[in-house]
Amino acid sequence: MEQTVVMTGASRGIGRTAARHLASRPGMHLVLLSRTTPQALVDELRAAGGSVTVIRADLSSLRSVSEAADEVVELVLSGRLPPIGALVCNAGVQHANALSRTVDEFEATVAVNVLANHVLLRKLQDHLEFGARIVVTVSDTHFGDLRHNLGMVPGPQWRPVETLARVAAFPTPSSSSAGRTAYSTSKLAAIYLVHEYARRLPAGLTITSFNPGFVPGTDLARDADAVSRFAMRRIMPLLSLTPLATSPDRAGRFLADAVLGTASAPSGAYIDRDRVAASSPESYDRQREREAWEAVEALTARFLPSSADPNPGRENR
Ligand SMILES: NC(=O)c1ccc[n+]([C@@H]2O[C@H](COP(=O)([O-])OP(=O)(O)OC[C@H]3O[C@@H](n4cnc5c(N)ncnc54)[C@H](OP(=O)(O)O)[C@@H]3O)[C@@H](O)[C@H]2O)c1
Repeated sequence: MEQTVVMTGASRGIGRTAARHLASRPGMHLVLLSRTTPQALVDELRAAGGSVTVIRADLSSLRSVSEAADEVVELVLSGRLPPIGALVCNAGVQHANALSRTVDEFEATVAVNVLANHVLLRKLQDHLEFGARIVVTVSDTHFGDLRHNLGMVPGPQWRPVETLARVAAFPTPSSSSAGRTAYSTSKLAAIYLVHEYARRLPAGLTITSFNPGFVPGTDLARDADAVSRFAMRRIMPLLSLTPLATSPDRAGRFLADAVLGTASAPSGAYIDRDRVAASSPESYDRQREREAWEAVEALTARFLPSSADPNPGRENR
């Protein structure tokens, strides 16, 4: 059956491999939301018979996200693209401090890793076909322990999302440690939201979070100092030969499988590489989940569809 898969973060790293797997499936039309056109990838996918559309979206600008979502909807409603069978919120950033500010005056990690996903999801949710899957790439750094972050990323330090969305939410905000704390905390927020979306989304839609594990060799640490960049690019990939890390190719395959529903996962589940698992004990908290949803709803309100109550009567599911 023909379907559209809308995806962020396909231009490099994990998403690039996932896009290759998804585009090779019969009837799959990939829509890549990207701030630049990944021409080599597009050419490669089309040469292999894939159907690919690129829509410009800079996820650090909520206006850009909102306009990109409008463009997707227009293509689907006009019949130029088949119904949307999946939304993949894979893009993510990790900054070298907690001071990067977006055009909307939000802290950049939270803006890209959390707020952009909310705008995309809320604007597209009514246009997803029955049975559609939404996958949000998160990270096991949200556990905050040595086993999951190998001592490289500090654990999350939870604060209300209104606070996280402002720069300097953490002590010594100019430090790389604050930038990485913003990262792990943004992924915890994303997991909270997946739990809340699972309760609020219309019947027939499944949302899961996806953890690729530690994936050295991608460009996630591109903002880090030269030594860390060198280690992530040249040394850490050796860890992919051990259970401590996942290669970008394997991580991309796992992401594609999560999108295709290869491992059956109930809505709200955390997919750890290729299987459903428990996320951290801290990541199950009904009050934080509801408050996080209310906060992102308020912070992004001017970019959302205008109905007063987006999901009347669904809060208690
Ligand atoms: N690598 C790891 O160890 C690891 C572990 C756990 C989770 N993850 C998560 O996996 C996902 C993919 O990361 P990766 O490791 O593959 O990193 P990556 O190579 O840096 O890829 C990140 C992707 O996000 C896109 N992106 C970033 N900022 C954007 C913006 N403002 N607008 C539009 N697109 C933007 C990038 O597009 P551009 O090409 O335009 O920059 C790129 O396609 C992220 O959510 C990350 O947090 C990674």
